[in-house]
Amino acid sequence: MIFRQLFDRESSTYTYLLADPKTRRAALIDPVLENLERDLALVRELGLELTHVLETHVHADHVTAGGLLRQRTGAKTVVSERGGAECASRHVGDGDRVALGELEIEVRATPGHTNGCLSYVVRDGARTLAFTGDALLVRGCGRTDFQQGDSRTLYRSVRDQLYTLPDDTEVFPGHDYRGHTTTTIAEEKAHNPRLATKIGEAEFVRMMAELKLANPKLMDVAVPANLACGGAK
Ligand code: FE2
Repeated sequence: MIFRQLFDRESSTYTYLLADPKTRRAALIDPVLENLERDLALVRELGLELTHVLETHVHADHVTAGGLLRQRTGAKTVVSERGGAECASRHVGDGDRVALGELEIEVRATPGHTNGCLSYVVRDGARTLAFTGDALLVRGCGRTDFQQGDSRTLYRSVRDQLYTLPDDTEVFPGHDYRGHTTTTIAEEKAHNPRLATKIGEAEFVRMMAELKLANPKLMDVAVPANLACGGAK
């Protein structure tokens, strides 16, 4: 598999480029509008054809490049059937698969941060990679206090949908604010301060209720724009 991890400094968002080396078909996960030209240049330089843009959820902190990438390349935009972005090319749910040539992307529903959060799982030889959006971050998780967030739902998503993956699964999160790039399921089970396996559901719910975070500065712009595929229907 061809694989790149890209970063948006403004919103601390990770964008991922995945491609099948044989057919050269590629997907971008969670592309950011401001980085559209950078990401398209990379696709071109690597000799790839962008066929899919996948969203892990409706973001509150940046506007997606999905709609514009579809206009520019003909790529299909893929979002959750529970996410509310009617304008997308394809709506997927738990257990669905997206094919990139010989590479298969498995969709797992991991609601809780929002009700439409998805994780994407890819197997590449002996490697398993999970793109977890904001459901599971390196030593953290997404907030659950807006956008239909629910901490009980998030706890169950992580336990049932992510911690059931092999321990050596490489986890690639939707964001990082402290410079981490990746982790593994085993590491998070042992060391996540909110979601280590020794932490029970009631304790997690209490921790999340006590966070009291300010709303993201772009929230009032980003959420409606993302529900409209980044403003490029
Ligand atoms: Fe988010």
